[in-house]
Amino acid sequence: MPRIIVLGAGSREHALAAALAQESHEVMVLPGNAGTAAVARNLPGRAEDVPAVIAACQRERADLVVVGPELPLVVGIADALEAAGFAVFGPSRAAAQLEGSKAFMKRFLKRQGIATAGFEVFTDADAAEAYVRAARRPLVVKADGLAAGKGVVVAMSTEDALGAVHAMMRERVFGEAGDTIVIEELLPGEEASFHVICDGVRGLPLVAAQDHKRVFDGDLGPNTGGMGAYAPAPIVTREVHDKIMERVVGPTLRGMAELGCPFRGVLFVGLMIEGGEPRVLEFNVRFGDPETCVLLPLYAGHVFSLLSGAARGGLPEHAPAPQGHALCVVMASENYPAKPTLGDRIDGLHAGLESSQFVRHAGTSARGGDVVTSGGRVLAVGGTGDTLASARAAAYDAVARISFRGEHHRTDIGYRALR
Ligand code: AMP
Ligand code: GLY
Repeated sequence: MPRIIVLGAGSREHALAAALAQESHEVMVLPGNAGTAAVARNLPGRAEDVPAVIAACQRERADLVVVGPELPLVVGIADALEAAGFAVFGPSRAAAQLEGSKAFMKRFLKRQGIATAGFEVFTDADAAEAYVRAARRPLVVKADGLAAGKGVVVAMSTEDALGAVHAMMRERVFGEAGDTIVIEELLPGEEASFHVICDGVRGLPLVAAQDHKRVFDGDLGPNTGGMGAYAPAPIVTREVHDKIMERVVGPTLRGMAELGCPFRGVLFVGLMIEGGEPRVLEFNVRFGDPETCVLLPLYAGHVFSLLSGAARGGLPEHAPAPQGHALCVVMASENYPAKPTLGDRIDGLHAGLESSQFVRHAGTSARGGDVVTSGGRVLAVGGTGDTLASARAAAYDAVARISFRGEHHRTDIGYRALR
């Protein structure tokens, strides 16, 4: 039985561990959370502590390491694990720059002729401020480096854009991640999350998903890491899917190979789609969270072969056909995303679930015999079904059984597809 170590601690890692355990592999999660402990064995440590992760992989004789979050990839964990002889699902440090540096990503898109928002890169605050003052239109200000999902400011006014430049470049709220910034035009349209499993040469697309970034119903309030997702997302029609593969994924895989850093792992393309035309908002070099919670159930039985095929260079000829629909709702703690309150007991986790329902833990930990909140996004609670409407009904039925002090969630996940 292959021994797999999943690195990370969110609902994405719980979804990965649950899918792999269901395919009857021996799964460990480092460090995991209270949910992964129920489907796998948690290992102590931090996913970005490279020497400690290698030691754990040696101790546990791992056959495959699946890297969940971006930070370990950007610091080079895949290179180090590979050098130590392990099969790794996740890109090299050089390839992870597609997410680790927005300036690298935007220049790469330009070089490859891939459609994206017009942009400028700045390393000087005075120059960035002069550009913002002259622009007189909505802008998006982005810290170059990783900023735990908080480094993007959609600024509808010049004042907001100047505030973002000031915070990133002068106050250095994201440290060196904000010493270089990208300022780009605001794109209209509808977003989609497009995941492609890559072995360095070929890419197998998964069905498109859609996240809900804003904290409140109707897409109001500040951006978050994602408040709920569903798949398949009908905004990505067959025609749009083919355009994404031909105009984005193909040139990306070829371009990365030409740069000497072929892409292996999952390429998650964040897209804005308007009038059937996809444009790239960003690349991520790992699975989306919470998108993974709704993608993996559609590929039950095929998850190991996809991950292992990408890691070892033996991907199947075609992506397996997705089965059914899935939708999940993120239950968040009080005051998320500003300053979430933590440490509250979660009730209702043991209420019996139907086989069409799932609960993935994001920010939870065990305390005594209880499970308590330990992060802003606490749980991703979802359902599957033959239709999106039935998946949604199953998801919200499960949400209604669970509670904790200050809990809030969106009540309109999937509205674009269901209206
Ligand atoms: P990113 O991390 O680049 O995906 O940005 C986070 C979120 O900000 C995206 O999911 C979009 O909702 C929004 N966003 C980023 N760039 C743009 C853009 N150029 N136009 C409109 N919205 C954007
Ligand atoms: N849900 C968006 C992300 O994982 O970046």
